[in-house]
Amino acid sequence: MTIAEIYELAIKMGVDADPRGKKGVDKYLARQKKVYLDLPKSKKEDFDLESFKNPYSDTRILFGDPKTKVEKVMAGIDFDAGEVVLADRLNQKGEAIDLIIAHHPAGGALASLHEVMDMQVDLMVRYGVPVNVAEGVLSERISEVQRKIGPANHYRSVDAARLLGFPFMCIHTVWDNMGWNFMAEIFEKKEHETVGDVLDILRGIPEYKQAIKFKAGPMLFTGSEKHRAGKVVVAEFTGGTEGAKEIYEKLSHAGVGTIISMHTSDEHREEAKKHHINIIVAGHMVSDSIGANLFLDELERRGVAVIPASGLIRVKRGKGRN
Ligand SMILES: [Fe+2]
Ligand SMILES: [Fe+2]
Repeated sequence: MTIAEIYELAIKMGVDADPRGKKGVDKYLARQKKVYLDLPKSKKEDFDLESFKNPYSDTRILFGDPKTKVEKVMAGIDFDAGEVVLADRLNQKGEAIDLIIAHHPAGGALASLHEVMDMQVDLMVRYGVPVNVAEGVLSERISEVQRKIGPANHYRSVDAARLLGFPFMCIHTVWDNMGWNFMAEIFEKKEHETVGDVLDILRGIPEYKQAIKFKAGPMLFTGSEKHRAGKVVVAEFTGGTEGAKEIYEKLSHAGVGTIISMHTSDEHREEAKKHHINIIVAGHMVSDSIGANLFLDELERRGVAVIPASGLIRVKRGKGRN
């Protein structure tokens, strides 16, 4: 495969697993186009035209010629300059890595992370929150995330890749969508008696089994294993980063009993507790590994070898899932 083909595949698989559905994604892309058309001529040249066809601002080719042929990738969760140098060292030792793929975004894909958070509005609507309420609650949080990420050194790892001449891409919301879709299929399609029952299923998934051995397995943040689970939703798996804490009240009113999340701050935990929502924190690196694995399996099926790195718990699945 070429880098361009891997990138196109990522967009396709991200849309196929997107909680907004194909229609919702198309609507989002149309909105992007309208934003562009409404811009004055002087601002049009700065617009990221990629966002007409790629609904994920945090999934981009960061460095390298898209036509480069790829036979082997090093893939993982966080790639800083250290991982870029690691890939280069491995090649010096005889590996032949053609491309490095990080999950968490870097470069412009990090600076614009807040843009994908809009999909959380649709996700909340799916879980019963009225659209105006979801939008109202999330809009302040989205601009807060933009302000928070603003001062970061976004291009540090991209610069390292450029200096070493190493092709580099990041695939963020695409993998999170795939992880969300995998988990939603398991947890949202049936009823669960207790929170403990939900945790038991979670602990049985191979990635989480391994994470438990690493002492980074699922944790119950609020509620008790004996509590009744109520309606279980995988509400905090995709959509850029942590949403607004005010959403727990709305989700509670919408009938949500238990949330499975990747990671939850203490501030959010307090709020969820106040509204009697059980929070199962599945674990960050391990949950990011779920979507990563589903994508990397597909690359392997297409003849690309994968070296897992940087916190990725690699589990391979056949065509039919296990
Ligand atoms: Fe993620
Ligand atoms: Fe993450």
